[in-house]
Amino acid sequence: GGDPWKECMEMAVQLARRAGQIIKKALTEEKHVSTKTSAADLVTETDNFVENVIISALKEKFPSHRFIGEESTAAGSKCVLTDSPTWIIDPIDGTCNFVHRFPTVAVSIGFAVNQELEFGVIYHCTEERLYTGRRGQGAFCNEKRLQVSKETDKSKALILTEIGPKRDPETLKLFLGNMESLLKAKVHGIRVIGSSTLALCHLASGAADAYYQFGLHCWDLAAATVIIREAGGIVIDTSGGPLDLMSCRVIAAGTKEMAMFLAQEIQTIHYTRDDEN
Ligand code: IPD
Repeated sequence: GGDPWKECMEMAVQLARRAGQIIKKALTEEKHVSTKTSAADLVTETDNFVENVIISALKEKFPSHRFIGEESTAAGSKCVLTDSPTWIIDPIDGTCNFVHRFPTVAVSIGFAVNQELEFGVIYHCTEERLYTGRRGQGAFCNEKRLQVSKETDKSKALILTEIGPKRDPETLKLFLGNMESLLKAKVHGIRVIGSSTLALCHLASGAADAYYQFGLHCWDLAAATVIIREAGGIVIDTSGGPLDLMSCRVIAAGTKEMAMFLAQEIQTIHYTRDDEN
């Protein structure tokens, strides 16, 4: 009886808090910044250090589990989701913010079994807010239960998005074109905060009505998807079909109406799938 993954989730909470303390301390210190897939795709020693802290602790406790981590993937590890219990980890979401000391930085730990997301833990490092979602058991920020916005009217929508790493002229044209379409459709506003996971936590909290993005990764989506669904929200593909965790694109919203409005309005920006790299 009970929850078979309870111990795993408790460990995820502990590790997210521990990682958050490391990141908070490192935020004000000197950093060594490198680039990955583009000049805007950044990594620091702290990203690698924190991912290693999290994965080594989990491997010791759960030696049969599998791991997908942002920096392990960058270093050449395969990014495939099998039926095995799998941890999906972003050690620092909002690395560009972290580099600039812009205080919107998170640790994200998701967990899937049989390719189904079981729980998600996201820790806002500077505000010490812990977002959690457990399949079938609701979503919380610290002790407070989360509930998405019930807004269905696009003209009352606050929408969140993130820019994504590609900055070539064609990508920028599509990215700005999508913003232009939404503004022409007279939404209330669009915000870019520099962290996909925290933007998705704002959506789960009802602080925004919809989110869309091209160019994010499974480690930006895994934990947040559980949190949003448990807060009553919708997480789908940008085509309007079911979410594909490896597709590097997403629409999330409080209501089906808002999700479908976005699916109709935005043009696809092509990114290589996470499992094709
Ligand atoms: C990135 C950030 C960024 C978003 C990217 C993410 P990282 O995560 O959330 O805002 O545009 O899609 O990959 O690289 O800082 O972990």
